[in-house]
Amino acid sequence: MKKNIKLILLPILALYLSSCSSDKLTISSPDNSLSVSISSQNGNIFYSVFKNNIEIIEKSKLGIISDKFDLSDNLNLGKVTYGSNNSSWSQVWGEQKVIKDHHNEIVLSLDSDLNDYLMKIHFKIFDDGIGFRYEILHPEEDVQFSITDEKTEFRFTQDSESWWIPAYAYRRYEFLYANTLISEINRDNFSKLVEHLHDPRIGPEAVQTPFTTQRDDGITIAIHEANLSNYSSMTLKTNGTSNMECDLIPWSDGDKVKTQTPMVSPWRTIIVGNNPSEIVMSTLTLNLNEPNKIEDVSWIEPGKYIGLWWEMIGTNQSTWGSGSHHGATTEKVKKYIDFGSKYGFEGLLVEGWNTGWDENWCCTGEGEAFDFYHSHPDFDDKEVAKYAKGKGIRIVGHHETGTQIDNYESQLDSAFAYCQKMGIRVVKTGYVNDGSQNIKRIKSDGTQVKEWHHGQYMVEHFRKVLETSAKYEVGIVVHEPIKDTGLRRTYPNMLSREGARGQEFNGFMPKDWNNKPNHTTILPFTRLLSSPMDYTPGIFNLKEYRYNSPDDRTINTSHHIPSTIAKELALYVIIYAPVQMAADLPEHYEDHDGFQFILDVPVDWRESIALNGEIGEYITMVRKDINSDDWYLGSITNEDRRQLDVDLSFLDSNTSYVATIYKDPSDGGWESNPESLEITEKVFNSSDKYTIVLPEGGGQAIRFSPKK
Ligand code: NOJ
Ligand code: CA
Repeated sequence: MKKNIKLILLPILALYLSSCSSDKLTISSPDNSLSVSISSQNGNIFYSVFKNNIEIIEKSKLGIISDKFDLSDNLNLGKVTYGSNNSSWSQVWGEQKVIKDHHNEIVLSLDSDLNDYLMKIHFKIFDDGIGFRYEILHPEEDVQFSITDEKTEFRFTQDSESWWIPAYAYRRYEFLYANTLISEINRDNFSKLVEHLHDPRIGPEAVQTPFTTQRDDGITIAIHEANLSNYSSMTLKTNGTSNMECDLIPWSDGDKVKTQTPMVSPWRTIIVGNNPSEIVMSTLTLNLNEPNKIEDVSWIEPGKYIGLWWEMIGTNQSTWGSGSHHGATTEKVKKYIDFGSKYGFEGLLVEGWNTGWDENWCCTGEGEAFDFYHSHPDFDDKEVAKYAKGKGIRIVGHHETGTQIDNYESQLDSAFAYCQKMGIRVVKTGYVNDGSQNIKRIKSDGTQVKEWHHGQYMVEHFRKVLETSAKYEVGIVVHEPIKDTGLRRTYPNMLSREGARGQEFNGFMPKDWNNKPNHTTILPFTRLLSSPMDYTPGIFNLKEYRYNSPDDRTINTSHHIPSTIAKELALYVIIYAPVQMAADLPEHYEDHDGFQFILDVPVDWRESIALNGEIGEYITMVRKDINSDDWYLGSITNEDRRQLDVDLSFLDSNTSYVATIYKDPSDGGWESNPESLEITEKVFNSSDKYTIVLPEGGGQAIRFSPKK
């Protein structure tokens, strides 16, 4: 029996409730540029979104279905409450110190005559986007249920250009982006345009989030989620039109989410801007996460690190495992410590320090067990810890799990207690497993099943690691992670993560398969909307850097990184992370004038501004240091040469700045002349304009320091 939703409007209607007919509520953002209309029809509940009074998402359905209830249909609308907030909060570290949380909100209570469950839908409307989440309540607590479908739809009114990576594919989030109309999203097109997606093709046609689309009028929209906790991650299912629907990654038994009352879902987020650079500035995701839970944050230190890493990933001269080419030997690590300490780096990443690398740890999910608190025989951990301490640098630990989750979880406490004892404050974790639904889970009856990398099992695993590491005062940088949904606000020891194709693909993949010059001009408008990224910039030796093998020290000429030194420097400003790596070998930095920029550039900022940007074309970011009055600029382009005129009005007025400019020469460019760098000085003030000239695949980095 279907019913019309009855609206019970409370007398506390606030001014921002701009219209309310019998079946429609409209609520606007504080600046009135964005609004959501909520409507009901035949027991169904819908929302639509307007930007500048233009409908950008049309009537889209909401609701949740589980094994115990269907709260997507036959709904009665009960109490409706409104609220608003205008406050600000400070980040422990970040792209900006202070974040404003200014929003209006509405909460709808919905029930069904067919069951005892109550569903509340919470909407928060900010100037930069919208978040909504479901809450499921029952008269009793701890009633178990399994979500079988979340009915959230996103029906875009325009079939616009979009940038996406496929869900339900091997290699998690590590793909280049496809650029198609929304209606053209499918794996065949991805195979045609980007990379052949091999079998098995399981799961629906769907994309990962953040998913970004730009309309013909420039309005740019990104769909993502915030505070993904005790739930499975949301992908967006497509069907050959401009409509998308929430698709939750299932458990191996088909359940989408295993949960109990009372339950809250993650926030479904819609970031909206007038243009691409506006969405880069969005703080919606962070605003929709819980405040910091870690009382004493004095041990959480942003910083820069070098690594015994590129030798394995890039130059191919060393190995993680035992043998004559083993990289992480006591002697070699000490040399890296000397270099890092000489130049004031906070950390030195050491990979291959432990045992477990000698068997088939990569990439099938079937590797041998890693050990996380006993070191390799030729790595004297105590000696190294003592040496590092004496030199004022910390070792960055490394936990490659090969996705042997049980093995890692059984050692978690000991592993992080070991770190604390050894003076390690940051650990990079890793989950290499290049299959599709391929993560082993041992059930309580001892049988083994395979889970997806992004399902609830892994969401919960990653949280366990984050909470355990916090207990031992260790920050983490996750490779092959679950996507970020803003958790760094609640756990500021969640420092950074990979979760996209990083520099490593330039290291180990030949020219035709590495990241293209446009990749880093797409990331700021897609993946980077969610969080810091451990991209690992700073490669200076871009051509003829890789050996054929550790035994065969002849150059493999099929490798050439599609970047320039100036662009590598610009990436430290473009890609935000509180821990940034200088990824190349020490010998490529020593005596190189460009290294000074890496030494100078901060990792914690008072303020950040996207000056310009078009997705897949170019972007210019400026950021102000948290500890000084210096500003930094980074600008990058795709494979096209271009000039960008920028206004320097972001600089403090009444101050003259000396700008140290790191740029490609006029005959520069990623292919022809990537390793030449010009460094010049100029004086500017805030009323000046400046033209950034970028060659093909190039970039530019500038430090502005107040003139003494
Ligand atoms: C993949 C990671 O992205 C890379 O940084 C790491 O070196 C290897 N896995 C080994 O753990
Ligand atoms: Ca990786």
